[in-house]
Amino acid sequence: MAVLPIVTLGHPVLRSKARPVVKVTKRVQKLIRDMAETMYQAKGVGLAAPQVNVGERIIVVDVGQGLVALINPEIIKAEGAIRDVEGCLSIPGRSGYVTRAAKVIAKGLDAEGRPIKVEAQGYFARAIQHEIDHLDGILFIDRLEEEVERE
Ligand code: NI
Repeated sequence: MAVLPIVTLGHPVLRSKARPVVKVTKRVQKLIRDMAETMYQAKGVGLAAPQVNVGERIIVVDVGQGLVALINPEIIKAEGAIRDVEGCLSIPGRSGYVTRAAKVIAKGLDAEGRPIKVEAQGYFARAIQHEIDHLDGILFIDRLEEEVERE
């Protein structure tokens, strides 16, 4: 496994629409392992492939409930709304309030290429929505309602 460099705000890959993964190959599986290691090393709760300069629709999330990797993720159901603070490994030093759906169901493929559905609520649901946004070139600062100032 390897820790990959995380690109930051200003890099064009963060504003590009990522392309779907056509086939879950060994390369994709290695990328997922490297993304997970990169996320843990950076003490993040989620990472999307564009953040490591790969324009493909892959995310990893771990909010303390175990690692979830989703390939070609799509939100198929969203309910409710919660306003909470979030940040992004690609936008260091900034955080703020964003309203997200309180509960989501996402579908995609797992690291073995099998179709899966993930039901998430609370911070898990928030992380999934944040990471899927990355695949469409959307950053949390686009949805930011109120910046949290730091001393
Ligand atoms: Ni992010």
